[in-house]
Amino acid sequence: MAGRWSIIFLFLSLVVVSFARPFNPLPSKVNRGKREPLQTFRPYNIAHRGSNGEIPEETSTAYLRAIEEGTDFIEGDILASKDGALICFHDVILDDTTDVANHKEFSDRRRTYEVQGVNITGWFTVDFTLHELKSLRVNQRYKFRDQQYNGMFSIITFEEFIAIALDAPRVVGIYPEIKNPVFINQHVKWSGGKRFEDVFVETLLKYEYRGEYLSKDWLKQPVFVQSFAPTSLVYISNLTNSPKIFLIDDVTVPTQDTNQTYEEITSDSYLKYISKYVVGIGPWKDTLVPPMHNVVTVPTDLVALAHAHGLQVHPYTYRNENQFMHLNFHQDPYAEYDYWINVIGIDGLFTDFTGSLRNYQEWTSPREDKDVSGERQIPAQREIKGLQLENQKYNMFNEKMRSIQGSVSLAKTLSMNNRGSSFTSGTTAMNQNF
Ligand SMILES: *[C@@H]1O[C@H](CO)[C@@H](O)[C@H](O)[C@H]1NC(C)=O
Ligand SMILES: *[C@@H]1O[C@H](CO)[C@@H](O)[C@H](O)[C@H]1NC(C)=O
Ligand SMILES: *[C@@H]1O[C@H](CO)[C@@H](O)[C@H](O)[C@H]1NC(C)=O
Repeated sequence: MAGRWSIIFLFLSLVVVSFARPFNPLPSKVNRGKREPLQTFRPYNIAHRGSNGEIPEETSTAYLRAIEEGTDFIEGDILASKDGALICFHDVILDDTTDVANHKEFSDRRRTYEVQGVNITGWFTVDFTLHELKSLRVNQRYKFRDQQYNGMFSIITFEEFIAIALDAPRVVGIYPEIKNPVFINQHVKWSGGKRFEDVFVETLLKYEYRGEYLSKDWLKQPVFVQSFAPTSLVYISNLTNSPKIFLIDDVTVPTQDTNQTYEEITSDSYLKYISKYVVGIGPWKDTLVPPMHNVVTVPTDLVALAHAHGLQVHPYTYRNENQFMHLNFHQDPYAEYDYWINVIGIDGLFTDFTGSLRNYQEWTSPREDKDVSGERQIPAQREIKGLQLENQKYNMFNEKMRSIQGSVSLAKTLSMNNRGSSFTSGTTAMNQNF
C-alpha cells in the first residue's frame, strides 16, 4: 500500500511540476553544484521520447519521469513550427498523438504533403505557429498503454527539453534528433537563409552543449545529436564538435536526403567514410538481429563492423510489451536486455521503459565508482536472494541463446548473406518504428 501511495504521490508531484513550468522557461540560473556524474562504464540508458511507456511521449512529464527512473539520456525528436520554433515532437503530423481533431478552429488546416516519397494527409506541425501548437494537448500513442494522462500536457519546445535536462538533480544527457530535415527545410523558412540544421546547432551552442565525446565539456553537459540524414550530420560537423549518431532505418527504407539503400550505408566503405563525422550508429534492432516468425535469428555482422570502425552501436527501440518483444524473450524485458547487452554487445539502448532498463543494469552491473563529492555510492538495499535467482535465470537464458545461435563470432561469418534481405515487414517513410 505504501508503495502504491508513493507512486501516486510521485505522479501528482510530476504533474504539479509540469504545470508549474512557465510558458517558455530557461534553465534556472541556480548554481547546480556538484552533481552525480553521467555513468560511462556500462551501455547508455536512453529514454526514448521520455518515459513514454507510462506517460504521453515527449512531454515534460514523460522526461521528468525518465529522470526520476534513472535514465542517462533523455531522447527527443526535433521538428519545427510554421514560425520556425523548434519543438519536441515525433510525427510530422499531429493526428496520432494530440487532440488536434477536436479543435474546430483548425479544421481547415488539414493538408496533403509528400514526405520521403509518400503522400501523407493530416495536420502538419509546419502549418501551425508555436502559439497554436501550445493550445493542443498530447495523448498516449498506443491504445494498450495508460490513457489516464491524455489531455494533460502540452507540446514542449527544444529549449524546454534542454531546460529539463539542465535542471535535473544529477547530470542527465540529451539525445535530440534532427528529424525529417529534408521536409522541414522545404516547408519552414528561417531568416538569413538559415537551414533547420543551423538553428538546431545554434540552440545547442546557446546552452553550451559542446565538446568531443567524453571531453570535460561533454561530461558536464552530455549530448548525442542523431539523424537519419547523413548530409545533415556532415553539414553540422562544421558547426559543432558534439558527438553525432547516424540512425539507420529498416532495410527497405532509403535515406531521405541521399536516397541510398540500406546495403550502401552499412557497407564497410561507407562506415569508414561516416566514421569521420559520427561516433556511432543507431540502427533499428531488427536489422541487427533479423526476426523470422517473431523469433530472433542469426545476428548480422553490423555490430562487429561498426565496432571495427570505432563506432558505438545504439539500437532502437526496446519496449516491454509482448506486442513488440520477440518470442525468444518469453515476455521478459530483462531477458531481452541481457541478450542485447551481453550476447550482442551493444553500447546504448533506446527504451520506452527507462525504469526497467535501469533496474536491470543496477542488478547486473551496479555503479561502483565514486561520485563527484568523493563519497562511495551506496547501492540501494536489494533483496539479494531474489537477485541471485534472477541472475541464475539470466545465465541459463544466456547459455540457451548461445547454444541456439552459436557464438556471435560464428554468426559474424554467416551474416553478410543475412544482411539486407527482407525479413521485416517494412516500414513507412515516417520511421514509425523510431
Ligand atoms: C502525391 O500527390 C500529388 C498530387 O496528387 C501527385 O502529383 C504525386 O505524384 C503524389 N506523390 C506520390 C509519391 O504518390
Ligand atoms: C565545411 O567547411 C569547409 C571549410 O570551410 C568547407 O570546405 C566544406 O565544404 C564544409 N562542409 C560542409 C559539409 O558544409
Ligand atoms: C532513389 O533510388 C531508386 C533506385 O535505388 C530510384 O528508383 C528512385 O527513383 C530514387 N528516388 C529519388 C527520389 O531519386
